[in-house]
Amino acid sequence: MIEQMIMAHSILVKIFLVFLLGGLFIPFVTKKNPAGFKKASFIYTMSFQALATMIAFTGLVIMAMNDFHWTLSVIVMIIVWALLMYIEIKKYKLIKVANIKDETTHKLLRGAFLKISLVQIMLVVMIVVLKIMEAKGVISLS
Ligand code: HEM
Repeated sequence: MIEQMIMAHSILVKIFLVFLLGGLFIPFVTKKNPAGFKKASFIYTMSFQALATMIAFTGLVIMAMNDFHWTLSVIVMIIVWALLMYIEIKKYKLIKVANIKDETTHKLLRGAFLKISLVQIMLVVMIVVLKIMEAKGVISLS
């Protein structure tokens, strides 16, 4: 049972990574469509939160099965998860209130979207690499 939950958690993380990579296209395909950028950004943030919530849920179920055994690795995952959510909500609020019809604002926000996505991808890849190194016994975070 716990193996299945870890597998679900791990698959969700991979789906999340593919989703984040796909999101990189948003600023490009909406280059000439400010309203489309705002709409895509809304759908993106909602999907982001849905996936992140599923990751946290499966992670918490694994933890419950492990009798809430805290490891450095789990703490790092929770911190990064909270950071990812925080950045995403901040970004979304910025896009929501912006006067997107203004060309300079639209350009600025598309740039910000891209840079923020790259930071989020880097954070996810960092955890995946950390977990692989942990599994191979290169590092110990227990
Ligand atoms: C609230 C958030 C989270 C909780 C409570 C959580 C909890 C856990 C637990 C308990 C495990 C299994 C035990 C272990 O290997 O240490 C695990 C494994 C893992 N977690 Fe998380 N996690 C969370 C978020 C994340 C996030 C945001 C990522 C990546 C971006 C992530 C990536 C992984 C990976 C790659 C594994 C290893 C899976 C495997 O062995 O195949 N976790 N997590």
